[in-house]
This record gives sequence, C-alpha cells and structure tokens, in this order.
Amino acid sequence: MWDNFFFIGLPYITITLFFGGIIYRGFSGMMSGHRGKWDSSVRGDYLWTTRSTGFFGRASIGPASLCLHWGILVLFFAHLAGFIGGAYNLASWVDFFRWAGLGGGILFLFGIAWALGRRIFIPQVKAMSTPDDYIILLFLIIIAGFGLYQSAVEMVFGISYSAGPWIGGIFKLQPDVSMIAGAPLANKLHIIFALLFFAYFPFTKLVHVFSYPFGYITRPFISMRRYVALKK
Ligand code: HEM
Repeated sequence: MWDNFFFIGLPYITITLFFGGIIYRGFSGMMSGHRGKWDSSVRGDYLWTTRSTGFFGRASIGPASLCLHWGILVLFFAHLAGFIGGAYNLASWVDFFRWAGLGGGILFLFGIAWALGRRIFIPQVKAMSTPDDYIILLFLIIIAGFGLYQSAVEMVFGISYSAGPWIGGIFKLQPDVSMIAGAPLANKLHIIFALLFFAYFPFTKLVHVFSYPFGYITRPFISMRRYVALKK
C-alpha cells in the first residue's frame, strides 16, 4: 500500500503541484500593480527573486554557486540519459549516468555544503535567510546523499533499469509500481525525497529556474553597488 502511495499517488501529486504551482506563481500578481491581476507578473511583483546573497561573504559565493549549479546541470542530464537508457535497455547510457552522476553528485554536494555553511557562518547572510532557504538546502543534501550513498558507498547501481520503465509508465498513465517496489531502500528514499522536493519547489525562490521567457531577465538591474562606489 505504501509503495502505491509513494510511487503512483505521490508522482501525480508532485506533477500537479509542480506545473500548477509554477503557472500560478508566474501569472498571479501578489504585489505592486500586478496585485489581483491574472497576468505575467513575474518581474513586476519582485517576489520572483533568489534574494541574492552575493553582496555579503563575496569570497565564498563563487565556489558554492559554481559547484552547485554545474553539479545540478550535470545531474539533470545524467538522470535523463540514465532513465532513457534504463527504459530502452541501453547499457552505455546507464553507464554514462553512473560516472557523470558520480562526478556531478560530488561537485553538487560540495557546492551545497558551502551554500549551507555561508548561511550558518556569515552573520549577514544568516540574518537575511528565511526558513525556505534552509529547507531547500537540507532537501538537496538528503537527496544527493542518498543517491551517492547508494552508488558510491553501497556500490549498487543499475536501478535505472527499473526506474526508467517506472517513470515511462507514469507519463503514459499506466503506472506499474512493481517496477520500482523491489529497489533498495536508500534508492526509494532518494526518489521519495526528490518527489517531495519537486512538489515544494514552486513555492520557493527556485522558480527563478523558469525565468525565461518571463520579463525577469530583461528587467532593469537592481543596483547592488558598494556604498564606497556610490560616493565616487
Ligand atoms: C524524482 C526525481 C529523481 C529520481 C526519480 C531519481 C532517481 C535516481 C536513481 C534511480 C538513481 C540510481 C540510478 C541507478 O542505480 O541506475 C539516482 C542516482 C543519483 N541521484 Fe537521483 N533521482 C531524482 C532526483 C535527484 C535530484 C534532484 C538529485 C540532486 C540532488 C539527485 C542526485 C542523484 C545522485 C548524486 C545520484 C548518484 C549518481 C551516481 O553516483 O552515479 N537525484 N537517482
């Protein structure tokens, strides 16, 4: 019964919240002239923002941001290759996932640990952090941790051959829980935490990933010059 909930019910709840939430956030104004209107409010209401912290602890944002963004990009394409490879029995694609995922995962975990450290140890960054900043980081550490634990500590890989067809079934509206029910616990937890994370995603600053084609990228700059520079 729990398998049915987590691997049939939860994926559909996640898909609904993920896409529905992003569309709602993107088109329902909350502040400024967009309040109450149903239009593309993304840049207008200024809630579509990452609440940039680069202003403080400048030296440490570089490694954190670079590693976590490149890491997640590699992980995204590695997962995609792995699931397609798993669904169509393409061993080299699954192998690619294994090694690219390992490299990307380590890079990502390193970057995300830095990002969490900045929020804990730099007083200004700590002061401007909201609970969702920490919740996102903890989610990602847990998800990447389970993924890497399974592949690099337990040395078990190849779940893609079950996960690929299982994901295919979800999208074809013919979910088959038996494909994933036998996966190791660490991998099931990896997937469950990832699904919960994606359901939560639209209600956080992470919506910045979908800035394009909204006006966010063409809005006027928010000036973040240092006071010294302003006096010149
Ligand atoms: C619902 C979304 C996700 C699903 C279904 C999923 C599924 C999987 C599966 C099945 C594996 C093992 C592959 C195998 O044994 O063949 C894996 C590995 C991994 N996943 Fe995910 N994953 C998801 C999201 C994420 C996210 C968001 C992250 C990043 C935080 C992530 C990071 C990793 C890492 C680091 C590995 C180990 C890769 C390696 O060592 O090669 N996953 N994932």
